[in-house]
Amino acid sequence: MKVFQHVQDIGDLRVALAEAQEVKRDRYQWQHLGRNKTALLIFFNNSLRTRLSTQKAAMNLGMNVIVLDVNQGAWKLETERGVIMDGDKSEHLLEAIPVMASYCDIIGVRSFARFESRKDDYEEKILNQFIKYSGRPVFFMESATVHPLQAFADLITIEEHKQNARPKVVMTWAPHPKALPQAVPNSFAEWMLAADVDFVITHPEGYELDPQFVCGARIEYDQMKAFEGADFVYAKNWSCPGVTCPEDYGKVLHDYHTMMDWCVSDRQMAVTNDAHFMHCLPVRRNMIVTDDVIESPRSLVIPEAANREISAQVVLKRMLEAL
Ligand code: CP
Repeated sequence: MKVFQHVQDIGDLRVALAEAQEVKRDRYQWQHLGRNKTALLIFFNNSLRTRLSTQKAAMNLGMNVIVLDVNQGAWKLETERGVIMDGDKSEHLLEAIPVMASYCDIIGVRSFARFESRKDDYEEKILNQFIKYSGRPVFFMESATVHPLQAFADLITIEEHKQNARPKVVMTWAPHPKALPQAVPNSFAEWMLAADVDFVITHPEGYELDPQFVCGARIEYDQMKAFEGADFVYAKNWSCPGVTCPEDYGKVLHDYHTMMDWCVSDRQMAVTNDAHFMHCLPVRRNMIVTDDVIESPRSLVIPEAANREISAQVVLKRMLEAL
């Protein structure tokens, strides 16, 4: 594997899920693969889970790990070609990428949507430069549009907890005071549509996700109706994807105070099939989900986060095998 961005990059999902369980049985059995190999993890944005789980996965495989927080201690990077660099940015990504690549064998990058241009975000301008100029395998640790390590961990978690062959999985929009990117819902939709689940998305009108990720998904604007009979409820906020109104891209369309009935509570969970609750974390309690739901025995937020180590290890293992 040279790039890990989309669900197709992992190949057959049944094989990938079986590999995840093999990793869980003994995560240290491939230490020889990473001997004298270095993973460089580059963060343009904050992280707790991705940072720790990916480092742990690399260490499980015997790799050395270097973590770079671009905005803390490195030179400020210019990302646009043609810019006269007379501002606060001292180095260009076009030099920085090959330099960073010379110190490592595999690169992971986190670079969120900037909300300056829908076109730039959805073209993955930053990550594609790493793919083009690094000469190294590149995996996405949440980009402008996707978060595949999270979606893979979510799928592993659903597979481990499902009680029927084809569970109903509902992804619901929930309120948030700030504008958040669409990377998590995009990837979750992409992976659920590739998996053997009955997938439904519910959100207020105006938050339609990009068709490249949700084509074929059932959309239900009535949240209560969507929740009926659900086996898994996956909550997430996202800002306007700008599909129907590009000028609204990245905006919060309504004052969140008027949207609090979308916060996942016992009221909605009561119409589900005793559903498990899922969220990628970090989560704002009593905005996205009530204390009672996230603390209930049906909440999977901690096993989900623990599976981030497993999804990262499968991806790094595949990349090491292909070096
Ligand atoms: N879910 C997730 O990616 O968490 P972090 O932002 O803390 O890495």
